[in-house]
Amino acid sequence: MCGIIAYIGPHPALPRIIEGLKRMEYRGYDSAGVALASEGRLWVRKEVGRVSELTRRLGGGPEVGIGLGHTRWATHGGLTQVNAHPHVDASQQIAVVHNGIIENNNILRSQLEADGVAFRSETDTEILPHLIRKHYRGDPVQAVRDAVQHVQGTYGIAVLFAEHPDVLVAVRNGSPLVVGLGRGETVLASDPQAVVAHTRQVVYLQDRELAVITTDGADVQTLAGQVVDSEVEVLDGDYQLASKEGFPHFMLKEIHEQPRSVRRALRGRLQVDDGNAKLGGLNMTPRDLLSVQRVINLGCGTSYHAGMVAAMAVESLARVPARAEIASEFRYRHPIIQREAVFFAFSQSGETADTLGAVSEIQIKGGEVMGVVNVVGSTIARTCGQGVYVHSGPEIAVASTKAFTSQIAAQLVFTLMLARCRNLSLEQGQAVAAALDGIPGKISQYLQEPGPIDAAVELIASARYVLFLGRGFSYPVALEGALKLKEIAYIPCEGYPAGEMKHGPIAMLDDGAPVVFIAPRDSQTEKAISNMMEVKARGARLICVHTQGDDEVAGLADVSLPVPRSTDFASPLLTALPLQLIAYHTGLALQRDVDKPRNLAKSVTVE
Ligand code: M6R
Repeated sequence: MCGIIAYIGPHPALPRIIEGLKRMEYRGYDSAGVALASEGRLWVRKEVGRVSELTRRLGGGPEVGIGLGHTRWATHGGLTQVNAHPHVDASQQIAVVHNGIIENNNILRSQLEADGVAFRSETDTEILPHLIRKHYRGDPVQAVRDAVQHVQGTYGIAVLFAEHPDVLVAVRNGSPLVVGLGRGETVLASDPQAVVAHTRQVVYLQDRELAVITTDGADVQTLAGQVVDSEVEVLDGDYQLASKEGFPHFMLKEIHEQPRSVRRALRGRLQVDDGNAKLGGLNMTPRDLLSVQRVINLGCGTSYHAGMVAAMAVESLARVPARAEIASEFRYRHPIIQREAVFFAFSQSGETADTLGAVSEIQIKGGEVMGVVNVVGSTIARTCGQGVYVHSGPEIAVASTKAFTSQIAAQLVFTLMLARCRNLSLEQGQAVAAALDGIPGKISQYLQEPGPIDAAVELIASARYVLFLGRGFSYPVALEGALKLKEIAYIPCEGYPAGEMKHGPIAMLDDGAPVVFIAPRDSQTEKAISNMMEVKARGARLICVHTQGDDEVAGLADVSLPVPRSTDFASPLLTALPLQLIAYHTGLALQRDVDKPRNLAKSVTVE
């Protein structure tokens, strides 16, 4: 989380830093701050809240060509101006911005306090300027190198010295940093998004690398001081400043983009005539596919839910054992990595620290792991080396919507390949490919007539608790619907497998409690109907997402939300849509900031 930007060049740094911060605000929006070096002193400004709050109070800063900035997602210490970055040393000569967590914070803080340092903030980051000052003997690079030897944890940092207005120093250990090499100017950022306004020539820092950044570029070294011959890469992703295209919020725009984004996830990949598919990024021949004995999908939050749907599809269509796992739990339970298993790391941002940690653990143990990623060139995509880009386009709203459906669509393509070389005949493969090919049109059809979402919102907006239920492929959709409502509307709710309801959560239901039931017509509908009856018998109000024309289910519902008919494995691509709209409109009704819900960030780069 947190966005870091630093600039050195012939132009005024301040407007460039502010522009970079705006581009990275999705990484955290608890506070924002900047520091410039001018006439041997630091000029520092920081504010609680959004970058717009900072710019509103900024006034004109010195017109100098060196400085750094930060948008914060709080880890240590509350949302206060004092805790905002940059942090400076006691002499106010060294400014540091940091993304990550310093794990030996308490020990270092005690040592520095014993040396007489008086801390101003509650942050772990404030350790850094004091520690660098302690090691400073006139050489900024050596001071940073010596200081970070004492630091345990994850960090991406940028350091500015008032006495050295011709150099910035950056170090990466676990939190991404990219250096943009412009003409006579150099930009450092935690995200390529903030670099592209200046240049597309970049160097990605690797863990335990230090960069000495000047107007001429960056000298990259190991922390031991050895020169690193870093590869210069050219950014080729879509880094346009995102526009709402007439929608009031990015979330609504992204919900409505799904016919196109799912089409992009499938385009050029389905081979309908052959009943097959191809994923160029996977480098897997049919023989390789045939040797896959197990599929394990890793991810967090919405990406985990997409991985659940994909794993169910693999078992159901390809008859290969598959499961999804929460990435943040994975590496700490000493997982078994089998040679014939294929792991997929699902991540919209490609920067999620928990998922990246799982990827490293698999690679250390010799396993094969591939990315299912949206952001081109992101850390997970590059670390995996191969995988599937889902091509949903930039997703700006913190609540993931179009990335969810695109991840599922892309992995259904993989499932088709896996199934086709095993147990699917030509005709069966053609039917699966045709079903997938038809999905974007059905999404479009639903979004044109989304049904009585307002009636569902009316039941939900005043509820104390909302239960989302589904069976089979609709169970992960129930989890996803509950997650969306929690993060956007802040209403207590949970997703449950419908059959499990009677083993506990049914106790939560009382007269009028809204229950959202995801029940497209499939092999489990009859069982789902029994569960609906149990819910109704407790006085709960049923909001049913069901297949168009299914009068039996519609007849039980207080609010009926029909979606177009599809096959069971593709149904989540349709049943998720009303749940996204319910979360969005409930959030609006409760006056929430739907694009930037409280306490969250788009990219979760700390564990
Ligand atoms: O970028 P990722 O897909 O790795 O992010 C994982 C989760 O942090 C993310 O899906 C989160 O749950 C979303 N805010 C959900 O809408």
